[in-house]
Amino acid sequence: MSAAIIEVADLDVYYGTSQILFGVGLSVRQGETMALLGRNGAGKSTTMKAIMGLAPPRRGRIRLRGTVISGLKPHTIARAGLGFVPEDRQIFPEHTVEDNLVIGKKRGPDGQDEWPIRRIYEVFPLLEPLRHRIAGRLSGGEQQMLAIARTLMGNPALLLLDEPSEGLAPIIVQRIGELLRQLRSIGSTVLIAEQNMHFCLGLASHATVIDKGQIVYAAGIEDLKANDAIRRRYLAL
Ligand SMILES: Nc1ncnc2c1ncn2[C@@H]1O[C@H](COP(=O)(O)OP(=O)(O)OP(=O)(O)O)[C@@H](O)[C@H]1O
Ligand SMILES: [Mg+2]
Repeated sequence: MSAAIIEVADLDVYYGTSQILFGVGLSVRQGETMALLGRNGAGKSTTMKAIMGLAPPRRGRIRLRGTVISGLKPHTIARAGLGFVPEDRQIFPEHTVEDNLVIGKKRGPDGQDEWPIRRIYEVFPLLEPLRHRIAGRLSGGEQQMLAIARTLMGNPALLLLDEPSEGLAPIIVQRIGELLRQLRSIGSTVLIAEQNMHFCLGLASHATVIDKGQIVYAAGIEDLKANDAIRRRYLAL
């Protein structure tokens, strides 16, 4: 088995006085695409924000390649090798596509540069002809691709995507799915939070299910596909 990139253990997170996460634990190994699945309000985004230091946990521990990162500031956590695409994508709308990419340029935690812009355009062929376009004028799907591409420009050890399929037309969701399958095939390590289980079944290697702030299931993706009871209980709409 390959090494754990991220290990999350016993996380409690509160917003004010209300507890949102209860002892959340999960781990993602090198080269895995982990789907964090759960219904609306289950705690997926809060888990992502806790990992990124944006919703600091009151209890628990997060390790990135063995080093404790919980308690560090968000920018320090990002620099340690986490690349986060939040739900609202956060591209720079007034800049061009290429400027958005260049702004994201950063060496990885080991000084590596696996994502020169040339390779980005190979993996995201739709972006190249749009390179001089103003990012704010792109479609939702193009913006999502740009957000993912820009984050890869930072050479993260782990890419975290919060609901990459949300609000996009089915054909575009399919494109994003193909892209994520491609990232998996080249060995990227990815954690995707999604309500859309079907989107994830075709691209993830593993699944963790969260419900009411607690992890209720974790297994390989084939195991989830075969487990009607879990899918019906926690993931049916
Ligand atoms: N800033 C906040 N202040 C208070 N409560 C919040 C805040 N953000 C989220 N919550 C609550 O925390 C719970 C978990 O929310 P979270 O956004 O993590 O869920 P989610 O699984 O990402 O859902 P969705 O599928 O809607 O994105 C929900 O009950 C939500 O109402
Ligand atoms: Mg969410």
